[in-house]
Amino acid sequence: MHLPSKHSATGTTIFTVMSALAQQYNAINLSQGFPDYPLDEKLADLLHEAALKGFNQYAPMAGLPLLRQSVADDLTKRYGIAINADEEITITPGATYAIYTAFTTILQPGDEVIILEPAYDSYIPNIEMNGAIVIPVALSSPDFSVDWNKVRDAVTAKTKAIIINTPHNPTGAIWQQEDWDALADIVRDKDIYILSDEVYEQLVYDGQKHCSVLNHPELRSRSFALFSFGKVFHNTGWKIGYCVAPPALTAAFRCIHQFISFTVNTPGQYALAHYIANNDAPPLHQMMQHKRDMFLNLLRDTPFTIFKPASGSYFQTVSYGNISDMPDMEFAQWLTKEYGVATIPISAFYSNKKDDRLIRFCFAKKEDTLTEAVKRLSRLSVTR
Ligand SMILES: Cc1ncc(COP(=O)(O)O)c(C=O)c1O
Repeated sequence: MHLPSKHSATGTTIFTVMSALAQQYNAINLSQGFPDYPLDEKLADLLHEAALKGFNQYAPMAGLPLLRQSVADDLTKRYGIAINADEEITITPGATYAIYTAFTTILQPGDEVIILEPAYDSYIPNIEMNGAIVIPVALSSPDFSVDWNKVRDAVTAKTKAIIINTPHNPTGAIWQQEDWDALADIVRDKDIYILSDEVYEQLVYDGQKHCSVLNHPELRSRSFALFSFGKVFHNTGWKIGYCVAPPALTAAFRCIHQFISFTVNTPGQYALAHYIANNDAPPLHQMMQHKRDMFLNLLRDTPFTIFKPASGSYFQTVSYGNISDMPDMEFAQWLTKEYGVATIPISAFYSNKKDDRLIRFCFAKKEDTLTEAVKRLSRLSVTR
């Protein structure tokens, strides 16, 4: 029997490959985007409390009302916007699922979706699994800004959606208000939806602010904004996120969601709802900025080239052009095996596997982990 693939990505994702290699060679894993430090004990206690108090059966399809209201209040506080928790927020099993569900809500076979590359690796398979066509547009090097002429040229009568990611994985670049305005100019008067992947929204550094699509009224009316609790509360393994969209889009989204997962684990939702409502979470960006600064200061003593410190996210992308002319996939494997540090090659984020001799480090790690990793990397020397 033959099972034809529903998408073009073959084999396992690069994150699984590099994490497995890290384990095999006992390397420090700065590849996959997850913290190696514990979550806040208060959040763990709330999870325990939820299970003991009997929050163990199916939650409502759209999510626990208290969690949706806590999220709405939190977004109002942070972005100064009004959000209707009943009609505009759906709790999902993670942001990856929310992205897939949003695509499935809007796409028909033959539709085109514009993605900006390098791009998070689930976008292309998710689009293709819906029978739609991926239209990749490369971000400009070395600052990974958007070339708006290229985006405008990529739009056709078949364009159904554009997916945006800010703060950006893998480059750490962030969007400014002008970027949203430029996008609005392109989609105005066209039936084009926006998927705005904002999973790193609270991880923005150097006093800069996250510009959410929710703060752009014109675009908000056609957008699905996707978020992940895992990335902001250090519990990626809980796989809980949410989608914010206008009432009509939320109704259509739930129409799909109710037949894929229907609901999301209840004790986790209970814990998050109380954690957010109690305002228990310590400010995140300060802690993460400290990690980024510390990592970059250490990294400056190695031969890697840092074009620009990450403005947001968990990630720093660097060039190894001074060290080797190996293709990035080969270099990342070699670094893991010979130097004991696992990273992600940036070509994995391009549909055409564009290779600019760049790798991505995840700095959402304990200080000891980062120090030991850079100690190992400082044995590298300039060879070119
Ligand atoms: C850009 C981006 N979107 C979405 C996700 C996935 O979020 P979740 O773990 O909530 O599915 C990730 C995880 O690495 C990511 O980097």
